[in-house]
Amino acid sequence: METILKWAGGKRLLINQISKIINPDQLKKDNGHYYEPFIGGGAIAFSLELNETVINDSNKELINMYNVIKNNPSELIELLKIHQSKYSDAYYERIRKMDRSKNYDNISNVEKAARFIFLNKTCYNGLYRVNSSGHFNVPKGKYKNPDIIMEKKINGLSRLLNEKSFKITCLDFEKAVEDATKGDVVYFDPPYDYEETGFTSYSAIGFNKSDLVRLKNLCDRLIDRGCRVIISNNDTKFVNELFKCNGYKIVHIEAFRFISCDGSKRSKVKEVIIYG
Ligand SMILES: C[S@@+](CC[C@H](N)C(=O)[O-])C[C@H]1O[C@@H](n2cnc3c(N)ncnc32)[C@H](O)[C@@H]1O
Repeated sequence: METILKWAGGKRLLINQISKIINPDQLKKDNGHYYEPFIGGGAIAFSLELNETVINDSNKELINMYNVIKNNPSELIELLKIHQSKYSDAYYERIRKMDRSKNYDNISNVEKAARFIFLNKTCYNGLYRVNSSGHFNVPKGKYKNPDIIMEKKINGLSRLLNEKSFKITCLDFEKAVEDATKGDVVYFDPPYDYEETGFTSYSAIGFNKSDLVRLKNLCDRLIDRGCRVIISNNDTKFVNELFKCNGYKIVHIEAFRFISCDGSKRSKVKEVIIYG
């Protein structure tokens, strides 16, 4: 099953490499669960289609959308049809600014999920970015005819989430894997680390180097508990230093990343897949 979102750092182009390391056959033999605590667009978890997967993200709007897709796909699709029929520059601005109104907290979860998908499909590069007040502030992209409804994909994802009993949580990554035990596999795809430039803007995206240290310590504890762990990130000095001990294997890869608004231009970047 394909991802339905455009998502920064999405792993669609690395599905084969990462799935091989996850090794679903071994996971089944070990009777283990699969955890993905930074689910984002879910490229890996949704392609594996494993039973009893646990997906998590700290982004409330994203997790609300997955819950709505699981529990109420038909109402969601009806609302997306309305968004599609009204799509224009002015309509984009109206929907984008909804979270600035006091009434935003009172709108239903399905309306919030439809807004989230509409913005993801029509904003610049599918970015998710909010200002310091938590208001979505990405400008409109240049799509002439974006596929906002995605009826087949949404129904397919809804079936997957139900038939394979996916558990969906909205927690910090550390809390999300508290129940992981021997035989389980945890794939961590946190926000990217960047080389030091002299500016420390990391905390602006809410995930910084101290969170990566926290992640490394968590991985050590999970391995001690008998879990397998896999981590992907940018190939930075900091990430390599952090994971060079305790027997972690580090695979250096060159990945393609989409850079243009319509997803047509890709650039090559250096990434690592780490496992233990
Ligand atoms: C690189 S993206 C994951 C991309 C995903 N693998 C995909 O294929 O689309 C990182 C995700 O981590 C989430 N995140 C950031 N900080 C977090 C935290 N402390 N706990 C859990 N999730 C977090 C972000 O909301 C974002 O969705």
